[in-house]
Amino acid sequence: MFIVEIEELLRNAMGLDAASLGRETVRQAVRIRLEQCGFQDGIDYLEHVRQSPEELQLLIEAVVVPETWFFRHIEAFQAFADWVQTEWMSAQRARMLRILSVPCSTGEEPYSIAMVLLDSGFPAAQFRLDAIDISRTSLAHASHAVYRDNSFRSTDFTFRDRYFSREGGAFRLAAPVRKLVHFRQGNLLAPDFNIGGDAYDVIFCRNVLIYFDAEKQKETVSVLGRLLDPAGVFFVGPAEGCLMIDAGFAPMKQRMSFGFLKRSSPPASAAPHKAEAPKRKHRVIPVSQPVPRPMTKPSSTAGSTRGNIATVPDLAKARELADAGQLSDAHDVCESLLRTFGNSAEVYALLGIVQDAMGRIHEAEESYRRAIYLDPGHHQALAHLAVIADRKHDTATARRLRERARRAEKRQIFTVQAKENDRW
Ligand SMILES: C[S@@+](CC[C@H](N)C(=O)[O-])C[C@H]1O[C@@H](n2cnc3c(N)ncnc32)[C@H](O)[C@@H]1O
Repeated sequence: MFIVEIEELLRNAMGLDAASLGRETVRQAVRIRLEQCGFQDGIDYLEHVRQSPEELQLLIEAVVVPETWFFRHIEAFQAFADWVQTEWMSAQRARMLRILSVPCSTGEEPYSIAMVLLDSGFPAAQFRLDAIDISRTSLAHASHAVYRDNSFRSTDFTFRDRYFSREGGAFRLAAPVRKLVHFRQGNLLAPDFNIGGDAYDVIFCRNVLIYFDAEKQKETVSVLGRLLDPAGVFFVGPAEGCLMIDAGFAPMKQRMSFGFLKRSSPPASAAPHKAEAPKRKHRVIPVSQPVPRPMTKPSSTAGSTRGNIATVPDLAKARELADAGQLSDAHDVCESLLRTFGNSAEVYALLGIVQDAMGRIHEAEESYRRAIYLDPGHHQALAHLAVIADRKHDTATARRLRERARRAEKRQIFTVQAKENDRW
């Protein structure tokens, strides 16, 4: 049973929920480390990791998922650019803009942020961009700043032409951009994580919370929430938005950005200050959703002249209503869409979110389940169901669902990648 103890050790050390990554993946990483250290017995290895911070770091290196790319989830960067223009630059604040990218992995995320700022005409001397990750290997790669095709998965490569030079089969980031990012090693779960620093105006913490268990997720959101200026913005990954809602944050108006604001943001102030823990005022709902897919099956009443695609504006309308807090109207539009056009995973997923926000948890659960029945890879419905399972303290189900959500997201990534490869 030494492996269970190693999983627990990793959970405490870095927040990793072995089930979310896949237990076999963790076990394989442990087997490799055990062999490399020359141990025959797992118990001896366990003792070694407990006593050696260096071995613990090597084990962490073996289990981290450094998956990232430039402008990953472009809507977040567009929303960030908008926020910089409308909230920051137009207010002509007298102080530096402070940004944190954690975890930054191999650097693609913070460098994308730097490029957005340069493209916005933001003076390099007027922002501070910190980038933190637990992995030394990833940070070494980030500082080296030479990237291969896998780091360029967007469809627009103009930024690569402007900021990179070719180096054999790879691309080197220009020194003026490299110099804008301050990398350092850090652990989100460390008790002294970033203690004593000024508050950040913008925090990117994307695609790591999905690997944490519910307790560590809450802990991390709360720590970062306290590091965020009251008027700041907080970006998470697409499967992580519900955690922000549960913590009392409000979604930015830019759809699909997964950017969040503190609920009671005071007006812009010029002086830097320490951020307070977020206070929950109203129940809000995540309306940042993937682009709706067409309906899956027309119903018997679909003799209407409106084709499936014509329902997309209605779904957009339902989201707008939900956005505006008109939950009951949003609910009615979803129900009417289902009655008129038949079953649709997208509509059920939205209906679930609306019901969740109305406090109708059992109905929400049922709607998410229907979404998954229609589309077993509906990553967002899986993630919301996992949160409901957490609330019911059904940890095993929450883990299983989170694992499925993660696999679904991965499949989505591979599909996008395959499409990209086909294009070339
Ligand atoms: C999937 S990458 C996400 C990178 C980037 N934020 C993005 O969305 O593309 C996850 C990263 O989390 C880092 N990580 C995992 N646990 C961490 C912890 N407790 N503290 C800091 N970084 C951690 C890993 O080293 C890995 O680089």
